[in-house]
Amino acid sequence: MTAQQTIPAGRGGIVGQPVSRVDGALKVSGRAPYAYEESDGGDPVYGFILGAAIARGKIAEMDVRQAAATPGVLLVMTHNNAPRQGAFEPEKVANVFARPRPELVSNEIHYYDQPIALVVATSFEGARSAAASIKVRYETKPGKFDLTAHLGEAYKPKIVNAGIETDTAHGDMEAAFAAAPVKLDQIYTCAYQSHVPMEPHACLAFWQGDELTVHTSTQSIGFCLSGLSATLTMPPEKIRVLSRYIGGGFGDKLIVHAETVLAALAAREVKRPVKLAFTRQQMFANTGHRPMFIQKVRLGANQDGRLTAIGHEVISQTAQYEEFAEQTAAFTRALYAAPNRVTRHRLVRLDMHRGEWMRAPGEAPGMLAIETAMDELAERLNLDPIELRIRNEPERDPELKVPFSKRNLIGCMREGARRFGWDKRNPKPGAVRDGRTLIGIGMAAAIRPNYMRPANAAVEIDRSGHVTARMNFTDIGTGAYTVMSQIVADTMGLPLDQVTVLLGDSRFPTTPGSVGSLGTGSVGTALYDACLALKAKIAETGFPSTAVPKLEATGKAEPTGDYKAYSQHTYGAHFAEVGVDMDTCEIRLRRMLGVFAAGRIFNPKTAHSQIIGGMIWGVGAALMEEAVVDSRFGHFVNHDLAEYHVPVHADIPNIDAVFLDEHDDKANPFGAKGIGELGICGSGAAVANAVYNATGVRSREFPITLDKLVPHLRI
Ligand code: MOS
Repeated sequence: MTAQQTIPAGRGGIVGQPVSRVDGALKVSGRAPYAYEESDGGDPVYGFILGAAIARGKIAEMDVRQAAATPGVLLVMTHNNAPRQGAFEPEKVANVFARPRPELVSNEIHYYDQPIALVVATSFEGARSAAASIKVRYETKPGKFDLTAHLGEAYKPKIVNAGIETDTAHGDMEAAFAAAPVKLDQIYTCAYQSHVPMEPHACLAFWQGDELTVHTSTQSIGFCLSGLSATLTMPPEKIRVLSRYIGGGFGDKLIVHAETVLAALAAREVKRPVKLAFTRQQMFANTGHRPMFIQKVRLGANQDGRLTAIGHEVISQTAQYEEFAEQTAAFTRALYAAPNRVTRHRLVRLDMHRGEWMRAPGEAPGMLAIETAMDELAERLNLDPIELRIRNEPERDPELKVPFSKRNLIGCMREGARRFGWDKRNPKPGAVRDGRTLIGIGMAAAIRPNYMRPANAAVEIDRSGHVTARMNFTDIGTGAYTVMSQIVADTMGLPLDQVTVLLGDSRFPTTPGSVGSLGTGSVGTALYDACLALKAKIAETGFPSTAVPKLEATGKAEPTGDYKAYSQHTYGAHFAEVGVDMDTCEIRLRRMLGVFAAGRIFNPKTAHSQIIGGMIWGVGAALMEEAVVDSRFGHFVNHDLAEYHVPVHADIPNIDAVFLDEHDDKANPFGAKGIGELGICGSGAAVANAVYNATGVRSREFPITLDKLVPHLRI
């Protein structure tokens, strides 16, 4: 840490230190309950959701008599008796997070496993077995489930996620590409992915009079509250949303989902607290997947490796009933210089659940394509892949034409190359062997936009000098409790044990939540502001005393003009070494390194954990993760952790991440930028490029399972 990197408060003691998690002891001793483990509100009863066994059509008839007569069953809710809820009208409610999401309100089926009934019983097992006894007669309609079969129906959405422009065009892409002496024109395909957070979606709901309390697993208390209040048509003041400890949330826990809506409705009916969770299997259909993507990448370059043309055109899946448009080509607008450029997003409506956000929506699948394409282009140019990227480093944002706030992609690549031993890489694929194992090394660049959203915080100090901070922010496992405690301790000049941070309660000041890698920067700035206000108050009125036992202050943060005047991103470079078995084509990661420039790092320990988690997810995207749709019936065939493969410890032998010293003064008073989503950006492409370097086989279909190598390996 350099002197300039201290926060303006000037103490700079604890922020920046690798402090262990303040909630660590609670977590490892089982005293940090998830929503389903809460015991608030009295003795609970248990719900179970029955999902549709068809993907498109109508429920013609439902016989719930046996379920209703099962001992212990308190409620069977279907579209025939579900309470009135706010109407689902996406065209009228533009804000996707505030949209009413009513459940069990019609007999129409939009996707396989859509909730069609809820059973509540005195035991979980009783509810589940009663749900299984419900007899349903469907009128099935033929559906569309295969993205590749319907590409001709692709349409242009008005806008893509986060209010980003659907298409951009600069210069004359077609002419420049046609004239380019060296060209690459390829299609890359990314499979559907499913959310598999450690904690499935779950809720405990209970009522006191006309007031509702829900303990749920959400990344954003604000989004959950607005969606729930719109769905239940009740004022947000009458709802308390709590989410104190969360077992992961990666975009699936942004909008309110059926488990929370149905638990709230059922608890009102049965007048008891209701616990309701989606099973792991049900999550595949119901809590949002990363859609499948087909990406056309065109790169045109001069012989010296300077890009003259970049084209990135993406087609992805959405639903018939609600749109989800991922910003998959958006990062390409800022990554490399080229005078002629095109980015496009198109969607195809299928009879499936729409996609939802999944860690680095846009960048994660987009960089698998672009950063593989850059590796392919480097080979055609006979140029080192790092040198190719350096030659195309833009001086300003190539499309927005504004300066970058801080951009140290080149530093990441050079430092990574030095640490990883990139100079030992043999650029000739298939040339390095260790017995019957082919060894390959690959790299890829990473970029992720940095955002800020309005946030608020409250702090108070008591007579013992203990400071308590409150925000409706969430800690999804990232270390938010810890980093917020560090900010208070530093700004107030207190040791960490004199600080308590309370999060995850809708009664606390509003924040954006853990969303889009912007939580810590936005909320931390509001908290810093609140601490400064508290110090001013102490200076003015004196320390809390018998007369005034505690002092309180609030603070807030707003994005500054620097978010428009500068192009703000974080950067990284990933390096991977793989071994590929010459006989079976089994791919094993041997080592991996990421080097990142992401502004100031609040806590190198929690940041390291978070970023290697993202990198490991990239390994999964490159090699394993694929939710397979049965194109006859529209369901995800592999819908549990036995068949939907994610990396486990044995798959990740040696992985490290390094942060370069940086202070981005355009981001916030700390000079810190978001890191939540940076780790997964580009990491999969580094692995894929290593597989190519090992084997000489280029798979453009992700994940690169061994069946994609076996037919082509010629060594
Ligand atoms: Mo993120 S995809 O906003 O969890």
